[in-house]
Amino acid sequence: MHPPYVVTVSSEKGGVGKTTLATNLAIYLKALHEDLPVLLFSFDNHFSVDRMFRIGRETPGGDVFDLLNGRPPETLAQVGEYGVSYIPSSRRLATARGRLRSPGILSRILAGSSLRGIVIIDTRPDLDVFTQNALYAADRVIVPVKDAPSLENCKNLYDFFESQGLSKRPLRILPCLVDSRIRYDGPFRDPYRLLKGYAINRGYRCLEGYIAKSPKVESLNTNPEGKIYPVLTHGRGTEVHLQFAHLARQIFVGTKTEEERRLETVRSELGLQEEQRDNAFQSRREGLQTQCLLCGKTLVEAEGVSPAGYYAETFDGNVAGFLEEECFTETVFRYFYHAQREVGANDPLRDLFRESALRSFFVLRRAPNTRNFYQQQLSFYRFDEEGLEVSHKTVELKEFEARFLKKERSPLFQLASRTLFDPKGRLGDDFLLIRRVGSDFPEEILYDEHYARLREIGEKIAAQIPQEEPSPKNGLRAS
Ligand SMILES: Nc1ncnc2c1ncn2[C@@H]1O[C@H](COP(=O)(O)OP(=O)(O)OP(=O)(O)O)[C@@H](O)[C@H]1O
Ligand SMILES: [Mg+2]
Repeated sequence: MHPPYVVTVSSEKGGVGKTTLATNLAIYLKALHEDLPVLLFSFDNHFSVDRMFRIGRETPGGDVFDLLNGRPPETLAQVGEYGVSYIPSSRRLATARGRLRSPGILSRILAGSSLRGIVIIDTRPDLDVFTQNALYAADRVIVPVKDAPSLENCKNLYDFFESQGLSKRPLRILPCLVDSRIRYDGPFRDPYRLLKGYAINRGYRCLEGYIAKSPKVESLNTNPEGKIYPVLTHGRGTEVHLQFAHLARQIFVGTKTEEERRLETVRSELGLQEEQRDNAFQSRREGLQTQCLLCGKTLVEAEGVSPAGYYAETFDGNVAGFLEEECFTETVFRYFYHAQREVGANDPLRDLFRESALRSFFVLRRAPNTRNFYQQQLSFYRFDEEGLEVSHKTVELKEFEARFLKKERSPLFQLASRTLFDPKGRLGDDFLLIRRVGSDFPEEILYDEHYARLREIGEKIAAQIPQEEPSPKNGLRAS
């Protein structure tokens, strides 16, 4: 099923007939093909769309503000007069401006909807972010121009397409409010031909024909009922009636071309991005060690809850895996905090540590400038959320140590050997970045947005870590 064909009416110049064009085009298209679903909405705050299409009192159900906030357009569309659906205009749009940062939001919302047929968007006389969103989604942009200055303004529209890397093919100029009584001498006999000549001269493409200025059409805005009447029902005797009919046919023919619709392109780009995200996640996940990097126990998921409490990866990306929550807490206390006394399993210090770990990044690395020391030195750093150093401590890295009257292999040594050792079994130049993860889904950290943050902090930390002094030519050196 094709997504809808989107027609945006836009010009930075005010009062050139945009709203009149958008609203009447909807009706003429519907008249041309009764079965064609036509949906209209406006980013304008004049409520002309509502005044023309509302049947009786408006049923509360949301407006274009809700549309931009992600409410599905199908649930906002109201069936209006003449069989045209519309989304009510909004007084709250200004408050959505801050949140609407990218021009691609509306196109993603429409691409994700089940709308069909034609969507017509009326815009404000401004190239603000609302108009940009309407342009970004468009298969056809109708640019009404009524005089030379409004034609000059078109350049900004073309520049916008250029800046977004979009094809300028959808853009079409349409002379509007043309006074057909005016005649000139010379090759451009009337304002229509003159405007068209200007446009072609600048390399702009034009729709066929124009919309004439008609006092009858102007009067359709003002009546005792407070409604706006369409040209089709109340202005049949005018030349504008024939001009709108011709315009609607041109737009309809445009919907029949084989070209991929704008929202189809948006859909496949979205699909592609999602696929890339999935692939990136999967490949990071597949590269993980399956055992706790500290104790070596396999991290089995029991009923969806993993004992993994920390994610660790070397900055060069060679080794990545999880650390058991208890293993890491135990190690940190044993070697780096309160090493002088035993911190029991129920000690509140542990809770305090776990809680503050949520806002920390930890790093393990060979102590600066100890590359050639016979005795290996390991530094443990704590950084805050912004990647600024909070504290660090250095300990001697021993393979075996006495504990409870026994000699046992040091877990810290195990961790270092699994992650930081070079082929000679010595601490290399890399560092290990450690971050607390949620136990219900530890792999979440491998999703693009979280992972990008980890890497960003990693870069920041790498830049702060003291540079190694060049290694001396012969052997050991004192610090
Ligand atoms: N073909 C026409 N003949 C005569 N008057 C017209 C015609 N089309 C529009 N008008 C009148 O011109 C005025 C501006 O039209 P309209 O509101 O459609 O322009 P707009 O570009 O949407 O304006 P804005 O930029 O303020 O949103 C209105 O009073 C309207 O009735
Ligand atoms: Mg308008």
